[in-house]
Amino acid sequence: MRGDLRRLASHPPLPPANREGLRQRISSELGLLPWLLRQAGDAADADRLRPWQTKPLSSPAARKALTATVEALLSRHPFDRSAFLEPPPTAADMQQARAIYGTYCAACHQGMGNGQAEATLPARDLFLMARREPRDEFLARLVQGVKGNAAIQFANPLTERQIGAMAMMFRREAPSR
Ligand code: HEC
Repeated sequence: MRGDLRRLASHPPLPPANREGLRQRISSELGLLPWLLRQAGDAADADRLRPWQTKPLSSPAARKALTATVEALLSRHPFDRSAFLEPPPTAADMQQARAIYGTYCAACHQGMGNGQAEATLPARDLFLMARREPRDEFLARLVQGVKGNAAIQFANPLTERQIGAMAMMFRREAPSR
């Protein structure tokens, strides 16, 4: 969500459809997050976030204030990168990451640059994203962005090791296929 808020404010601005997609995703995350926080025993943060469910995000000041709320939330619930990258991916993990990408991701993502301007949430080039975005943000996008099918309730089918190896591949390697 922090990354999406930043993209929403980026200069030059993203195409209108892309911005609309980000606004929709932020508002659906705002619907879910207070509930997740409450389940995790953090009612105070759930209450801090809930008012944002009804506030419009159209003004820069509102986006800035929500970003500050999200930053504070992140400092209390830090993203644990080590879960994905410790112990570091082996050569075999990297090989598997390349195979997963070529088989399951490239068809939609390869060569897509920043994504189609007219799409609300376009598929983007994962190698570009990994190089441009903060490391933890890209990792978080890999966790959130990969959806399985209905049989597994759209959960991410990749393991933490696979996600860690793929993050490293996208950041360090060039697409091969
Ligand atoms: C059928 C097409 C398709 C396939 C296959 C696909 N993606 Fe995507 N992906 C998309 C689209 C469309 C989006 C943009 C919508 C969204 O963010 O959910 C996206 C978004 C993402 C995002 C960004 C989420 C964010 O926060 O912006 C990541 C990361 C991602 N995909 C990784 C992958 C990986 C890794 C694979 C292979 C295991 C994969 N995708 C396979 C279409 C696809």
